[in-house]
Amino acid sequence: MPIIDSIKAKARAEKKHILLPEGTEERTVQAAERIIREGVANISLLGNENEIRTVAAKFNVDLTGVGIIDPLKSPDFGTYVERFYEMRKAKGVDMEKAEKMMRDPLFFACMMIKDGKADGMVAGAINTTGNTLRPGLQIIKMAKGINVVSSCFIMEVPNRAYGEDGVLIFADCAVNPNPTAEQLAAIAISSADSARSLVGMVPRVAMLSFSTKGSAKHENVDKVVAATVMVREQAPELMVDGELQADAALVEKVGQLKSPGSPVAGKANVLVFPDLQAGNIGYKLVQRLAGAEAIGPICQGFAKPINDLSRGCSIEDVVSVVAITAVQAQNMQKERS
Ligand code: ACO
Repeated sequence: MPIIDSIKAKARAEKKHILLPEGTEERTVQAAERIIREGVANISLLGNENEIRTVAAKFNVDLTGVGIIDPLKSPDFGTYVERFYEMRKAKGVDMEKAEKMMRDPLFFACMMIKDGKADGMVAGAINTTGNTLRPGLQIIKMAKGINVVSSCFIMEVPNRAYGEDGVLIFADCAVNPNPTAEQLAAIAISSADSARSLVGMVPRVAMLSFSTKGSAKHENVDKVVAATVMVREQAPELMVDGELQADAALVEKVGQLKSPGSPVAGKANVLVFPDLQAGNIGYKLVQRLAGAEAIGPICQGFAKPINDLSRGCSIEDVVSVVAITAVQAQNMQKERS
């Protein structure tokens, strides 16, 4: 079964309430109907009700079962303005600015999630990654023990010899331009967690570099070495190895030659890239040249799940990302209880 189908099945097993704050966006409105029909999650669209219904009528969308929330008419609007002001006044936000921010459905959605009125949010069909994540970074913040929000992709490559029967996790390919060693360690630990909770893998984490075990000397290599040490200290049960070149991470023969006896080299299923240039270029190359299915970016490290869509997303992409968000919400609830 394709990974996304098993994720949808998990989402259906215990339905979560996911918000779509870009509620008047055409693909989003059409996805909402499909999500309800497939039983993947309970859904609310945010925005002006007349505008949402006009878009729905244009595409013959049946909104039965879809919630509609207009932040401007919500009885919670005033409370959320005050709460946001309290949260951000030390950062120079006054009441006027707080009210302006709360008119933005993405900020309002994050306040609803923080308030326990919804379980997660998916946006980014019309907003940039930065604009989608910023309300989450300011309002939802990070899960306990996590020092950075990052992202991963589930990559399904046609050659099943790699990773876990052709499935790998790539990180961070979308959020942190230049992570420190501490942040890189946190990205590795969060990615291992995503590998376990979303794909059911036993993670074998490779900390990637242009060097394997001291074959090259450079400050960029030192960062990866330091991050690997931190992962071992912070998650001693985790199978991790670094620094490794991509072939040493993926190809058994090369891995055993360059890092003999390693439980990871040659059979890694989680690839942690040293920075965003490498990660973003890396996943796109594998997607285009190897014909891999790339599911993501999936955000990791938030206290409640928020996910970003590509602006070129399809209706089906929105449905898939909502399913992933719902499963993340289930996992976070289990961790809290
Ligand atoms: N984890 C945790 N907290 C963070 C992170 C992070 N990764 N990044 C920023 N923050 C915090 C900041 O410290 C700040 O905290 P504070 O205001 O409470 O002190 C808060 O979040 C808001 O920070 P901003 O300065 O407003 O946000 P910033 O401008 O740093 O933007 C962002 C963060 C949007 C993630 C930025 O790093 C970014 O744009 N990254 C690249 C995104 C991108 O373009 N990706 C490639 C395309 S995606 C694709 O191809 C799939």
